[in-house]
Amino acid sequence: MLAVPRYAVFGHPVGHSLSPRLHAAFAVQTGVALEYTAIDAPPERFAEIVHAHFNSDGRGANVTLPDKRLAFELADTHTRVAQRVGVANVLTRLPDGRIEAHNTDGTGLVRDLRERHCVALRGARVLLLGAGGAAQATAWALLDEGVDELVIANRTTARALALSDALAQPRHVCVSEWNALGRSGSFDLILNATSAGVRGDALPLPSSLFRAGSFACDLAYGAAALPFIAWAREAGARMAIDGLGMLAETAADSFERWHGVRPGTDAALHVLREAADQARK
Ligand code: ATR
Repeated sequence: MLAVPRYAVFGHPVGHSLSPRLHAAFAVQTGVALEYTAIDAPPERFAEIVHAHFNSDGRGANVTLPDKRLAFELADTHTRVAQRVGVANVLTRLPDGRIEAHNTDGTGLVRDLRERHCVALRGARVLLLGAGGAAQATAWALLDEGVDELVIANRTTARALALSDALAQPRHVCVSEWNALGRSGSFDLILNATSAGVRGDALPLPSSLFRAGSFACDLAYGAAALPFIAWAREAGARMAIDGLGMLAETAADSFERWHGVRPGTDAALHVLREAADQARK
């Protein structure tokens, strides 16, 4: 009898991850047989644990915080998207046995904004808050979509400047000091890619960032996204959402990469939303 192909999400902590539910829902929907578990991988044991997975019928892995850079470093080969971002959230065992790193964070966010929320990205003026791994993936994907102006602001301005340099598109990308955001005008789209909400820190932001029709999105979900969403609504955003839709799309991207079929995300997102609401109670 053939072994059921094994997949897993690695992170530390990882018990809260919604990925096993998503992949289980996608497997039922598409009729693909698979096993998908959550495996705790503290950074100092990440390589050992992931290699053990791939050496025992593991075909693929999703990787979450704080292991995304380690995933990139562990891989034998990298897709162009992963190469640009320098961190990976998808590892795949190729037919020749090598492990490939890929990143679906940016494409997942763009798909959620464009297709689920009908946000027009081409020609948009966008503010990106943060310059870590999540912000890097987001910035590349937004430029691929043809945003006209991408303003990056980060608590540590030097990191925003480094990201801007790496993007190398000076006609479309600039950096604002965090304290100068009040002078940067208003935006069509404001993305919070900082981990302030996860850490329980407040984000001091001026309400002048919004204009009629502005859209706001926090890449986090659950309780971590609530303060930014509440602030955005109060400050006049037309709509403010969390990153749950992005999570569903990034998971569907990795599912498609591994199984060759793209699952629909609406039903799975409904399940996720209920799970996230339960976890908040
Ligand atoms: P991730 O992979 O989730 O992006 P990261 O690489 O650790 O995680 O980046 C976290 C981001 O959140 C950084 O941009 C960080 O700003 P610094 O570069 O100054 O550290 C930002 N961040 C974290 N806590 C913050 C806070 N309280 N206020 C503003 N930005 C914060």
